[in-house]
Amino acid sequence: MHKDVEEILYSEDVLKKRVAELGAEITKDYAGKSPLLVGVLKGSFIFMADLVRSIDLPATVEFMVVSSYGSGTVTSGAVQIIKDLEQDVGGKDILIIEDILDSGNTLSYLKGILEQRGAASIKICTLLDKPARRKAPITPDYSGFEVEDKFIVGYGLDYAEKYRNLPYIGVLAPRCYQ
Ligand code: IMP
Ligand code: MG
Repeated sequence: MHKDVEEILYSEDVLKKRVAELGAEITKDYAGKSPLLVGVLKGSFIFMADLVRSIDLPATVEFMVVSSYGSGTVTSGAVQIIKDLEQDVGGKDILIIEDILDSGNTLSYLKGILEQRGAASIKICTLLDKPARRKAPITPDYSGFEVEDKFIVGYGLDYAEKYRNLPYIGVLAPRCYQ
C-alpha cells in the first residue's frame, strides 16, 4: 500500500467486479440504442477505459475536460469547460461517466448544457457517490459505490494531480493535505 494511503476502500478485484456489473446493467438498459458515453476528464479515464469494455453495445466515446476544483480538496462551485465535445449531441442518448459525484456542481452544470443542446436523453454513471456533500439537486442513474465524506484517491482520482495511477481506491492520509 502507498505510504500516503490510510486505508484501502476498494481493491482492484472489487473494482473489476463492480465495473463489470455496471457495464452489464447499462448494456441491458440501452438495448437497441447506441449511447454516446461522455467521460469527464481527467478523473474518469481509468473507470471509463474499464467500463466501455464491459458494455456490449454500438456505443461511441467522447471526453470533456471541466475544471471545478483547482488543486485543493474543497469544491469552488465554479465550473469551466476546458475541452468540449467534438460532435453535435442533438437527438443522442448521452451517458455521462464521472469518477465521483461530490457537491454535484460539475454534473448539474454539464447536464444542463447537454440538455440545452438537444440531447434525446441524459443519464449519469458515477463510480463513486458521496451524497453527504451534495449541494446541487442531482442523483446518479448508475453508481458503483456510496462513499463516506473522506478524501479518496486512486483508480483515476487525484489529489493535486497525484495518485491517479494507484490500481485501488483508498483514503488519502489527512496529513497529506492539511
Ligand atoms: P463536484 O462538482 O463537487 O461533484 O466535484 C466532482 C469532482 O471533484 C470529481 O470529478 C473529482 O474530480 C473531484 N472530487 C470530489 N471528491 C473527491 C475525492 O474525494 N477525491 C478526489 N477527487 C474528488
Ligand atoms: Mg475530477
